Amino acid sequence: MDRWSGKTAVVTGASSGIGRAIALALAEEGLTVVAVARRDQRLKELASRVEGKGRIHGYTGDITDDDQLKSLFEWVEKNLGPVHVLVNNAGTTIPTRVSEGDMSNWRRMYSLNVFAVGGCIREALASMRRHGVDDGHIVNINSISGHPAAHVPGSWVYASTKHAITVLTEGLMRELVEDKSSIKVTVRLIMCNYFFYLSQMT
Ligand SMILES: NC(=O)c1ccc[n+]([C@@H]2O[C@H](COP(=O)([O-])OP(=O)(O)OC[C@H]3O[C@@H](n4cnc5c(N)ncnc54)[C@H](OP(=O)(O)O)[C@@H]3O)[C@@H](O)[C@H]2O)c1
Repeated sequence: MDRWSGKTAVVTGASSGIGRAIALALAEEGLTVVAVARRDQRLKELASRVEGKGRIHGYTGDITDDDQLKSLFEWVEKNLGPVHVLVNNAGTTIPTRVSEGDMSNWRRMYSLNVFAVGGCIREALASMRRHGVDDGHIVNINSISGHPAAHVPGSWVYASTKHAITVLTEGLMRELVEDKSSIKVTVRLIMCNYFFYLSQMT
């Protein structure tokens, strides 16, 4: 991890859960982490937790709003310089039945789990390319639901957003190879808490 010391990482969805743990771990390893979420107070508390070599800047914003997403990356560029690492972690699960077609639930999940991921990739790659960051790294947090392995009632729409991430990550990797870029892409597969889903559906 030494090569990342002092480099800047953007971690979305860092006010709780997996994103919070990733932000803290990267800061402990010496990275300057921009922890993104909507709940300001949680980000302030998180920033105060760092004991290692790095630091955490909380950035409050809603990344489903493309203007706010662009402002986030402009802020990073202006205050910290280029993005070296992007962790696309923010994601949401809303139990909903496909057959009911509740588009407000579909939109909420697709806006965050897919469109915001695409926007963050666009802005992070542009930053890396502008500054000649050849060893940049993009990490997309996925789920077992993003693969045709296991599904539970009410999770099909969520699963479809994660299937999209599986395909889009593969596509991004191939495009970077076509471009002869050495920027790396990783997809992390997280096991779901099925009991959570089932408890929401009963
Ligand atoms: N936990 C699991 O069992 C599991 C399993 C498989 C995959 N995953 C995946 O792992 C990732 C993290 O899951 P988690 O369980 O740790 O999630 P979580 O605890 O619910 O955290 C979600 C994070 O996203 C942020 N967020 C939500 N909407 C946002 C928005 N519009 N703009 C900016 N930030 C927003 C939330 O912060 P604010 O509310 O403060 O904005 C929060 O920090 C997700 O992609 C999820 O699909 C999780």
